[in-house]
Amino acid sequence: MNKKDIYILGIESSCDDTGASVIHNGKILSNVIANQEVHSKYGGVIPELASRAHQQNIVPVVHEAIKEAGIAKEDLNAIAFTRGPGLMGSLLVGTSFAKSLAFGLNIPLIDVNHMQAHILAHFIDDENTPPPFPFICLTISGGHTQIVKITDYFEMEVLGETIDDAVGEAFDKTAKILGLAYPGGPLIDKYAQLGNPKAFQFTKPKVEPLNFSFSGLKTQILYFIQNNIKENPNFIEENLNDICASIQYTIVNILIDKLKNAVKETGIKHIAIAGGVSANSEIRRRLKLAEKTWGWTTYIPKFEYTTDNAGMVAITGYLKYLNNQYSNNSISAKARLKVDD
Ligand code: KG4
Ligand code: ZN
Repeated sequence: MNKKDIYILGIESSCDDTGASVIHNGKILSNVIANQEVHSKYGGVIPELASRAHQQNIVPVVHEAIKEAGIAKEDLNAIAFTRGPGLMGSLLVGTSFAKSLAFGLNIPLIDVNHMQAHILAHFIDDENTPPPFPFICLTISGGHTQIVKITDYFEMEVLGETIDDAVGEAFDKTAKILGLAYPGGPLIDKYAQLGNPKAFQFTKPKVEPLNFSFSGLKTQILYFIQNNIKENPNFIEENLNDICASIQYTIVNILIDKLKNAVKETGIKHIAIAGGVSANSEIRRRLKLAEKTWGWTTYIPKFEYTTDNAGMVAITGYLKYLNNQYSNNSISAKARLKVDD
């Protein structure tokens, strides 16, 4: 084997998806994910159930990732794992597993910050061009909404963030109001494609230029639905596509407005998106439009690297490996971690 052949195993278990991925010199060889169906009927993630499902999934998922990569576990150079932020019980499963495997194979252990990993997924060696430094990343997920300025792989500065709910929560909670299953983001996206985005109007929150707020919008939508149902009990069924399109249009408008403010403030026109909500078709369409209208260069991850996945953990591990940034075996999981930690 060539000395320059670096194989890293990435493990992700911060929320409700158990993932394992093998990366070879920046190229993903396998990216296995076990989604946990169990939460769907509860309308949100139940931490205790998530932790138990990770325990059941982690061995077969890791096994599958190594097998699919066509290597033996002895070929691995390091084990990278998500340390945080996330649900403590979930993080602990990945952390302890990664530690034992690294110890057993006598190879380095690398801790990965989940927020950094969402952003660094842009450096996976695939057909997409990676963003040049400095660039702006809008990280939009079920737990976070941030505008981050990235000046180097591990030099990140938060320029703005949500003061209440995350944008993914806004999608999921409004979907719940509409009686849709969890996670509701992809469903709103699906119905929105058949609806009129201007059918219903919602007002945008008034917050600092680079900060976000979604809790008011959620309440506004709740009252809007309740009032309309009083007049017509079938209001949701009869207008689902238009309601979803209007909600999505409002949310994406807020995101685009904030990016415009960030470009104005920093002068940086290289714009990336990351996190589960970056799978949304409308934000993707609007960013492409911004290339033509405002001269931005935009970086949109492949679908498999938007929602939680281990490929993003593996690339972050690889970049840290090149820098000799290993972690000590006494490292512990951390539920709260900032993007610049
Ligand atoms: O990054 P992620 O998998 O987990 C966290 O780190 O939070 O993001 C999950 C979030 C959920 O809120 C889900 O509804 C949202 O991403 N999401 C979407 C779409 N696909 C996933 N939201 C809007 N449109 C989508 N197509
Ligand atoms: Zn995530």
